[in-house]
Amino acid sequence: MQRRPLIAGNWKMNCLKEEAYALAKGVAEKYAACTDPECDVLVCPPAIWILPVVDAVKGRVAVGAQDAHAAKSGAHTGDVSVPMIKDAGARFVIVGHSERRADHHETDADVKAKAKAVIADGLTAVICIGETQDQRDAGKTIDVCRTQIQGSVPEEANAQNVVIAYEPVWAIGTGRTPTTKDVEEVHAAVRAEIAAKLGQKVAEEMRILYGGSVKPSNAKELMALQDVDGALVGGASLKVDDFWAIVETCL
Ligand code: 13P
Repeated sequence: MQRRPLIAGNWKMNCLKEEAYALAKGVAEKYAACTDPECDVLVCPPAIWILPVVDAVKGRVAVGAQDAHAAKSGAHTGDVSVPMIKDAGARFVIVGHSERRADHHETDADVKAKAKAVIADGLTAVICIGETQDQRDAGKTIDVCRTQIQGSVPEEANAQNVVIAYEPVWAIGTGRTPTTKDVEEVHAAVRAEIAAKLGQKVAEEMRILYGGSVKPSNAKELMALQDVDGALVGGASLKVDDFWAIVETCL
C-alpha cells in the first residue's frame, strides 16, 4: 500500500500577518516549482490568519486550522467553528493537540466531538495522540496511544477524512526525539489499533504522521520509517528553508 506522505506545519501561536503571508507564500512557491511532487504539504496558521494565508498559497498547498469548536455556531465566545474554517478556505483541522489537551483540558471525548464536526463538514481532521514523559517512564506509551485512538477517533473515520499524528508530548519543542526503533514500534501499534477499530483496509490507507522536534537534520531518518507517512512540524515550520528541507525528504 503506497500512502502519499503529508508534511504539515503547525505554526501554533506564532507570526504576525505579514510574516504569516510571507511564510505561506514562500512554501507555496517552492511547492509549485516542483514537478510531480510525491508528497502533500499543509500549513496551519493561527485562525486569524487563515484568510490571508489562503490568499497567499493560491491553492498550491493546503491550509488547515489548529482547532475548532464541535458546534456549528452559537454562544461560544472566542471559539471558531468548522463551517467558518471551511468558508475561509481551509481544508484540514488539527484536533486534540497535546497543547489543547493540557492547556484547555480537552478530553478524548471532546477531541472525538471535534473530529466528528470536521468530518461532517467534509474536511479532514488531523487527530493528535501521544504520551507524556511520566507515561513513557511507566512503560505505558502504547497503552496511552491505544486508549486515545479508541476515545478520540470517530467510527466514521477513513483515510480521506482523518490523519493521525503521533506526537510524544516530551518530544515537542524539546529537541529530543524517540529512537527510530521506538517510533517504528509506536506507529505499528497505532496502525494495528486503527485496524482493530476501523478495519484493515482503512488502517493500511490512513496516514500516520510523526511530530515532536522534527528538524531538517533528523527528518530523513524519521520519514524513511515504514509506518511514518509524514510529519507534523512545529518550530521548524516557521522558516521556509527549514520547513522546505523537511518537505524535500519526501519529494
Ligand atoms: P516541535 O516541532 O516544535 O517540536 O512541535 C511539534 C508539534 O507540536 C507539532 O504539532
